[in-house]
Amino acid sequence: MPAKKSSVAQEIDQLRRQVDHHNRRYHVHDAPEISDAEYDRLFRRLVELEDAHPELASPTSPTQRVGAPPAEKFETVRHSIAMLSLNNAMSEDEFRDFDERVRRGLNRPTDAIDYVVEPKLDGLAIELVYEQARLMVASTRGDGVVGENVTANVKTIHSVPLELRALPRGLALPERFEVRGEVIFPKKAFEQLNADRAKRGEPVFANPRNAAAGSLRQLDSRITASRPLDMFCYAPGDLTGVAAKTHWEFLELLHACGLKTNPLSRRCAGAEAVIEFHREMVERRMSLDYDVDGIVAKVNRFDQQRQLGLVSRSPRWAIAYKFKAQQATTRVNNILPSVGRTGTVTPIAELEPVFVGGVTVSNASLHNMDEVERKDVRIGDTVTIERAGDVIPYVVGVVFDKRSGKERKFHMPDSCPVCGSKVVREEGAAAYRCIGMSCPAKLRESIRHFASKHALDIDGLGDKLVTHLIDSGLVRNVADLYSLTKEQLAGLERMADKSAQNIVDAVAGSKQPTLARFINGLGIPQVGEHMAEVLAERFGTIDVLENASEEQLLEVREVGPQTAHEIRAFFDVKENQRVLRRLRDFGVRPRVVQRRKSGHLSGKTFVLTGTLSIPRDQMAKEIEAAGGKITSSVSKSTDYVIVGEDPGSKLDKATKLGLTTLDEAGARRLLQP
Ligand code: IVH
Repeated sequence: MPAKKSSVAQEIDQLRRQVDHHNRRYHVHDAPEISDAEYDRLFRRLVELEDAHPELASPTSPTQRVGAPPAEKFETVRHSIAMLSLNNAMSEDEFRDFDERVRRGLNRPTDAIDYVVEPKLDGLAIELVYEQARLMVASTRGDGVVGENVTANVKTIHSVPLELRALPRGLALPERFEVRGEVIFPKKAFEQLNADRAKRGEPVFANPRNAAAGSLRQLDSRITASRPLDMFCYAPGDLTGVAAKTHWEFLELLHACGLKTNPLSRRCAGAEAVIEFHREMVERRMSLDYDVDGIVAKVNRFDQQRQLGLVSRSPRWAIAYKFKAQQATTRVNNILPSVGRTGTVTPIAELEPVFVGGVTVSNASLHNMDEVERKDVRIGDTVTIERAGDVIPYVVGVVFDKRSGKERKFHMPDSCPVCGSKVVREEGAAAYRCIGMSCPAKLRESIRHFASKHALDIDGLGDKLVTHLIDSGLVRNVADLYSLTKEQLAGLERMADKSAQNIVDAVAGSKQPTLARFINGLGIPQVGEHMAEVLAERFGTIDVLENASEEQLLEVREVGPQTAHEIRAFFDVKENQRVLRRLRDFGVRPRVVQRRKSGHLSGKTFVLTGTLSIPRDQMAKEIEAAGGKITSSVSKSTDYVIVGEDPGSKLDKATKLGLTTLDEAGARRLLQP
């Protein structure tokens, strides 16, 4: 029997899963569930444990990269130099420690280091590439190495010059000039945007940073253009050919060629001057029209930066010196499960109202049950809450001294408080989710999604109309759309006969979607556009997919255990089966997918492990194009295991089973027809 995992190993595992999950929420979905401060806390705890236990290191730990993979809808851009992240200092002492490491690293233990300090903007990091002074590409940070191409959107930002100004005599920019900065959403405009969205019944953004991210990651750049984004530049990409010896000179250069830099940036000699700047910014942050969550201090001289170098994901020559979040204590009057528009059930603490960070707070998110248990928050407890720039404050911890013994524990209900469907726990993610397709709490969102361009593509079903349809009781699930008559629609407020007919036609015209769009439209947790395509390709019809077991789902390369579980659970819900049946009865018939024609590797099963010279996914695609099948785990029926550098346990298993293993060159040979 394998030894039971130590509690440290367990905590590390759990933290990795949590950090991965929140990374995805933040970077891929633009919809974080926890505040930055809380995320930082999880991340730092993980780094701390991994540092203390090098034997538990893992190349796939979220600490080994700087962000999340780019979403699939944008083209990708490879950064010529990785976009790094910054280590944090949370207090004066931590900043002094950083300064000491810098001095030691430079062999100048007693010097006052020349720093440049800047506000740490809370937006989205973007890289701009200019060629012959023209803006060619703008990309997001992505995972630091590969980001998303958002050029069309960034071009709508007025403070980003499409062409750089010529520099004064004697100064020139290199042919290719890379500069990085932060795209932000001004605070006042943010409040206006949210007010407008709320009026239209659209979901509001949690904070200006999400609004910036949501605006930049629009596929339609006209929407981006309607948002007043702004961009401050603060860092170089590739420095080759740039006539600057210090960061300060670099900022001056940026300013001279027309890029916007932050006017609050300044030079500081030594740690105390930096700490003073931090104090000033704490005072000023509220009066700025953009969110600032700390300051960034950078060693000014480039030669010193080079000398200090990097540690895995962050430079040793710069640090984010964060502001303390604003805290208060109050009483938890009750804890209630709340169903969000995607079906996530989160425990919410109802608080005795308290004033913190400029607003009165009466609710705080407890995020998920793991958090409730870890922090041991009970009804009746006195708790510390925190607001860190976000709209939703969260519970930091319980003031245990104030416990009377009368506090009550909160339990997550088994069924959804809104619709009564089963509530399932998402594996690894600690989140509970209502999986009822017709749950009113998420009905509007699921109908909107079902009718959207990437799903059944039903024109005319705007948010307002959907709200009317739900409120009037005409639509209780997506199948009801197909029973709508012109008369029913025309009876709704402000609906002309003609529009009513158009909608009936659009609904009727959507009855033969591609299978992929149909699957996407169902809104199965974990199944987005791409996964829907994979499933359609593999299963061919909705009936086959509906009846696939978890094992069969797992045989699909891109389907992991959690996704397989979610898909199975979704089709097991009686209400969902009923909706699917009714869709069928109304004549909704997704088109059957023709299975791919076979190639010379057809019938062969492959497993990939370790790092190859090309992304694994690319190799997988080539194998599939030749008819081969990729699975994620090694078994007796695996034909070939392709082994890259640092292979994982899959290689051990393959050896044990006596399977054929190939290196990359071997795989290449095999791929040749
Ligand atoms: S410099 C190697 N300067 O913070 C240094 N970053 O945690 C690269 N940020 O991804 C970044 N304000 O999104 C730098 N004045 C500033 C910044 C700043 C905000 C963000 C940026 C970066 C993250 C690093």
